[in-house]
Amino acid sequence: MDARNLIRFLFLSFIIALLLLLTLINLPLPDKAEELDCSTNSRWCTTKNRFFQSTLKEPSKRTKPTTTTVRHHTSDVPHHPLDPLTLTELNKLRSILLSHSLFQNSKTYAFHSVVLEEPEKFDVLTWSHGDPLPPRKGSVIARVNDVTHVLTVDLATGEITPVDVGEHSGYPTMTIEDMTSSTWAPLGNADFNRTIIARGIDLKDLACLPISIGWFGKKEENRRLIKVQCYSMEGTANFYMRPIEGLTVVLDMDTKQVVEIIDKGKNIPIPKAAGTDYRFSAQNTKINLVNPISIEQPKGPSFTIEDDHLVKWANWEFHLKPDPRAGVIISRVMVRDPNTGEMRNVMYKGFTSELFVPYMDPTDAWYFKTYMDAGEYGFGLQAMPLDPLNDCPRNAYYMDGVFAAGDGKPYVRSNMVCVFESYAGDIGWRHSESPITGMEIREVRPKVTLVVRMAASVANYDYIVDWEFQTDGLIRVKVGLSGILMVKGTSYVNMNQVNSPENLHGTLLSENVIGVIHDHYITFYLDMDVDGPQNSFVKVNIKRQETAAGESPRLSYLKAVRNVAKTEKDAQVKLKLYDPSEYHMVNPSKKTRVGNPVGYKLVPGGTAASLLNLDDPPQKRGAFTNNQIWVTPYNRSEEWAGGLFTYQSKGEDTLAVWSERDRAIENKDIVMWYTLGFHHVPCQEDFPIMPTVSSSFDLKPVNFYESNPILNIPPNSEKDLPVCNTASSA
Ligand SMILES: *[C@@H]1O[C@H](CO)[C@@H](O)[C@H](O)[C@H]1NC(C)=O
Ligand SMILES: *[C@@H]1O[C@H](CO)[C@@H](O)[C@H](O)[C@H]1NC(C)=O
Repeated sequence: MDARNLIRFLFLSFIIALLLLLTLINLPLPDKAEELDCSTNSRWCTTKNRFFQSTLKEPSKRTKPTTTTVRHHTSDVPHHPLDPLTLTELNKLRSILLSHSLFQNSKTYAFHSVVLEEPEKFDVLTWSHGDPLPPRKGSVIARVNDVTHVLTVDLATGEITPVDVGEHSGYPTMTIEDMTSSTWAPLGNADFNRTIIARGIDLKDLACLPISIGWFGKKEENRRLIKVQCYSMEGTANFYMRPIEGLTVVLDMDTKQVVEIIDKGKNIPIPKAAGTDYRFSAQNTKINLVNPISIEQPKGPSFTIEDDHLVKWANWEFHLKPDPRAGVIISRVMVRDPNTGEMRNVMYKGFTSELFVPYMDPTDAWYFKTYMDAGEYGFGLQAMPLDPLNDCPRNAYYMDGVFAAGDGKPYVRSNMVCVFESYAGDIGWRHSESPITGMEIREVRPKVTLVVRMAASVANYDYIVDWEFQTDGLIRVKVGLSGILMVKGTSYVNMNQVNSPENLHGTLLSENVIGVIHDHYITFYLDMDVDGPQNSFVKVNIKRQETAAGESPRLSYLKAVRNVAKTEKDAQVKLKLYDPSEYHMVNPSKKTRVGNPVGYKLVPGGTAASLLNLDDPPQKRGAFTNNQIWVTPYNRSEEWAGGLFTYQSKGEDTLAVWSERDRAIENKDIVMWYTLGFHHVPCQEDFPIMPTVSSSFDLKPVNFYESNPILNIPPNSEKDLPVCNTASSA
């Protein structure tokens, strides 16, 4: 072969090889790994056995929900009176403050909270789209030279007004900087280093957590203290499972000085690392239990987000914003009446007001673990970016949080909240006729809902908070618990060594690891405004009625007896299985056609109640969990159930204290509070990471509509649904 032929041969071989390769790539793979193709819509392409959305975009109505794109927020402007402070506004606010003498003459300062000071409710209710915005103001909680200041800053005029919030024992929410610096500060202490080394731990493997100390008396007062607990990271990312038990460092958060080192667990081994790592990459074996699954929306979702924060979906409309303390705040919730077409008010404002998580171990290294995650740590500050396709499904819209750091500089917490439509194969309503009647009727409507989700990772624990809206007017508030247990080291490796298991304070989960019993309480602020602010709280008591002798073959039946709560104490509710009630929030001056007051009812769920002694210091601070339901008159200064300053508070500014004033609540602008409760006795399945446990409560229309509001929605039919075929048959 001459050179020319050789080149030709090589070229041909190359072409053949290339063709062969291309054919092989396009060949449908056998059985399980079939390629899929949504043939109805070119926006849907295939890769391997999973879908991805091509970049081809449909012309958008307004803001089309997008997948995760990095947004810088430098050109954000407020559109709505409740819109959070923008990046520009936060910068401006910071420069106004820093040029003020209070800050200029200060030795130290830190911003613990910088959020919008929401305008008066009346101004928000009377504002309509297109009106000029009420004056934009910032509400600031700052510590200057170790003194707490609450300030209102007018962004237009630059005026700074101190706010008198009265005397309080507690401190504001920690800054992220407080938390991170506390985990490093002990390393500045030689005794601490020696203690760690004496436990056989290399300082490079050390991981420490800042743990709020609660409040347990005088000794801890008049300075911001934190307890630091440490772990060994050696051999695992899940250091939480390797506690250096009994070691507690008490730290002054302001000076960063170690106040005390308590080391009482020298004989307790550090639990092994093996089997603790939960990362997919760390698993030796991987199994596919189900085929890849996803809900397809070839025409895109049915919701829009207008002006960054106004969510419109089906018959619902509400304002949504991330918040550093509450996580998310849902406001101005309205639903369309199917008969009149008007948007009707349901709720003015709803959010997670406080969490209370007491651990049930009275020993030295554990008694103080009684977290209040919103007021102490900032529930929203702990909300990490959501993981697309896993935290929220495809087609979710992601909203960022724009918050101020401890130095007042704004930063972006990207993808903090997601909004998506959910279809879980559930039924909206149905009826089918049995052959007895001779009628062939089968009427069923699928249930599609809209979910607003965020997930906070408060150190080890993860809380998933969902606000779910249904087309029938129901709002479901769901909290899921996952993440990693706070565990205790022990010398036990088997239960056969334990004489009295009830004194373990928990469950032996693995060798040398006890999952400590604890509770979770999540208290929601629900400013219901059912067809307007003037509402009443009605307990519809379900009572047994005995029949009179000879009246009926029946001896007893149930009656619904309506009791309108006159004052706050009438509305302090402890749930009782054998003395049940429905809990209605009604508008007494608005009646249905047949004369029932329009209303929404609270349907409780997640009903664990705190069993702690009411005088126990943690329970005093968490006294907002003494009842499952409370109703208070609307007061814009009463939003945080654990008090404005929760950190190290003594519990003198809680919902329980406000409610004791026993103010009138009948036919007034009132706020309902509900606490979801969980008792958690850990089990082995919670190791090394907990499968999600959820509970929810509902806000459900009760005589709010004239009749079933989704009577006229269509059923699903094959021809309307996206068609996805396997590539082999396409
Ligand atoms: C403690 O150990 C850390 C890490 O090795 C080191 O950076 C630090 O200087 C040590 N502290 C003291 C007081 O020696
Ligand atoms: C509003 O709340 C604040 C803080 O609890 C309280 O000082 C004030 O008295 C309350 N106002 C009314 C009218 O209840």
